[in-house]
Amino acid sequence: MSDIVERYDIPEQHFWLHGPRSGPAVEFDARTGLWNVYGYPEMHEVLGGPATYSSDTVRVVPKELMPGEDDFSLKGFITQIDPPKHGKLRKLVSSAFTRKVVADLEPRIAALTHELLDAARERGGFELVSDLAYPLPVIVIAELLGVPSGDRALFKQWADALFQRDTEVSLNRTAEERGADIEATMRPWKEMSAYLAAHAAERRRQPRADLLTRLVEAEVDGERLPDDQVVNFAIVLLLAGHITTTMLLGNTVLCLDAFPEQQERVRADRSSIPIVIEESIRFLTPFALLGRATTREARLGGVTIPADQMVMIWLAAGNRDPRRFPNPDVFDPDRDPNPHLGFGRGIHFCLGAPLARLEGRVALNILLDRFDALRTDPDDPVQFIPMPSLTGVRRLPLIQG
Ligand code: HEM
Repeated sequence: MSDIVERYDIPEQHFWLHGPRSGPAVEFDARTGLWNVYGYPEMHEVLGGPATYSSDTVRVVPKELMPGEDDFSLKGFITQIDPPKHGKLRKLVSSAFTRKVVADLEPRIAALTHELLDAARERGGFELVSDLAYPLPVIVIAELLGVPSGDRALFKQWADALFQRDTEVSLNRTAEERGADIEATMRPWKEMSAYLAAHAAERRRQPRADLLTRLVEAEVDGERLPDDQVVNFAIVLLLAGHITTTMLLGNTVLCLDAFPEQQERVRADRSSIPIVIEESIRFLTPFALLGRATTREARLGGVTIPADQMVMIWLAAGNRDPRRFPNPDVFDPDRDPNPHLGFGRGIHFCLGAPLARLEGRVALNILLDRFDALRTDPDDPVQFIPMPSLTGVRRLPLIQG
């Protein structure tokens, strides 16, 4: 068992943090009905082969596990779309969500970080997640989209309802569990869709200088995004845009607490912040799990996976595969290269990676400026998000210093 597991009481379901795995790189779990991929080269192959490993996973989920089609549509949900449609949508949204749009946010991210830290100082006590790591990315993405950042309590409610459950990932659930799951997901989903649809409709009537307007107006080959697809892309941004970056900030500070020599080093040489962030994403991978569905029979890691099977890609385990990362349980920012899969790989590679990296770099720099030491409070323990598909802290109280 590694030190951090005991020290921070890391939940059992984050099995990749509890020492090396001994099983095969790919295996079928009869209990859940899922194929699990744990090995790095194998997941490289899956993510690089969208023709065999499709992102349209809903196709293989039994109908009774899904909400009715009237309630729920994943149309335009970019993470679920395969080529050739995916390429077209990605081009369209990339034309609105450009690197320049992101780079221009740097001064605002810095100003917000200072504001949030000033407010925390006035209140006294410092809990990194609620004081900074959660509000910062939410305010940034809300301002970017053009929805009121004052509504962030609502966004948190929706995100918590969708992401803070600790249910096991499985295709074999009882009717009762399925009903409860669907209900728990649908309510926030519908509210969020209605909220963003109202804002998108407003932008069609009255354009503003925001990302929602750019999405509504974006055009590729003379075609625009239909309303439901604008809404679904905005949902992806609102959810992906804050939960994962919240985890990135919390996890990076946790790594600097766990490895004080690394904290000393990055304090003395701020140019190493980017490599610390990359290693933090490898070491504590925020988005731990992705899904794909086989379109045909496939050979992977020495086993044969039939067509129409759900394949679970445990990115967090792949990022600790000793075949790719020597001494994977060592936090070593000097890994060069550090080809972690934390932002995915291939055609679906995270579109928000430049924003996540920028927020991480700016916030960490300011935290190091304003705190002589970033240290967790032994009397007020760290808490991890229990959901097995996410690695991140939901509470990280720090000693003021
Ligand atoms: C895709 C992780 C931050 C927007 C992905 C994927 C991963 C990922 C693993 C691949 C999904 C797949 O292959 O099925 C992360 C992590 C983040 C982060 C770890 C922070 C540390 C963000 C941010 C945004 C964002 C800040 C936007 C504001 C997206 C979008 C996609 C995506 C739109 C879909 C791309 C596509 O399907 O073509 N992200 N993400 N992400 N991410 Fe992120």
